[in-house]
Amino acid sequence: MRIVVSIGGSVLAPGLDPDRVEAHADAIDELTSAGHEVATVVGGGGVARKYIETARGIGATEFDLDTLGIAVTRLNARLLIAAIESSATPEPAASHEDARASLRRGEVAVMGGTVPGHTTDAVAALLAEMVEADLLVYATSVPGVFSADPNETETAERYDRLSAGELVDVIASIETAAGSNAPVDLLAAKIIERSGLRAVVLDGTDPTRITDAVAGDADGTEVRPDG
Ligand code: UTP
Repeated sequence: MRIVVSIGGSVLAPGLDPDRVEAHADAIDELTSAGHEVATVVGGGGVARKYIETARGIGATEFDLDTLGIAVTRLNARLLIAAIESSATPEPAASHEDARASLRRGEVAVMGGTVPGHTTDAVAALLAEMVEADLLVYATSVPGVFSADPNETETAERYDRLSAGELVDVIASIETAAGSNAPVDLLAAKIIERSGLRAVVLDGTDPTRITDAVAGDADGTEVRPDG
């Protein structure tokens, strides 16, 4: 299968723990050893948020804040590349085209953000769309998509399965609630919907959940194309 794995920065490198980065690299190596083509998109996490907060405090523009965030996602991408043993392109892909070229050479592509104005959730969905991935895995810090933000609402329930249209509706309603955080953002959900991508949203703090999901044993929310 051709797989795009999106790994949140707070999942890959909270506290910049080398064991955690290696565990994620091991999961990617396991997927390539099993014969899958793998591209990975890495987020910025708490480190990106701290840089953005500091820069906002000194009056940087939103564009410049995004540029800082992108730089951190690419640093995280470099960390992951350093830990991957299978043949990964040694530099983070700067564009979707570069990532696709890596896949075509038979290499693991690792990238962070691309341009200001969105997040790595959307970058991963666009990459999956572009390379016609069989599966898009979102390794997040929550165990799936819930009816509301589980940190804010006690009665929030996890969806085991959603159609892409339902995903868009659920994320839209979560994003309208002030202060709530959706596990995948609305732009990403819309890209998933328009291209009929198959996706899984799971808790990636244990990266074996990523390999399990690819093997068909997903512990998270599975998103199926409409119809
Ligand atoms: P993330 O994708 O990690 O954003 O990129 P996030 O959604 O805030 O992180 P999590 O999922 O909650 O951990 C970090 C920041 O980098 C910028 C944005 O400012 C984003 O918030 N960014 C990232 C871009 O501007 N463009 C990109 O393509 C990617």
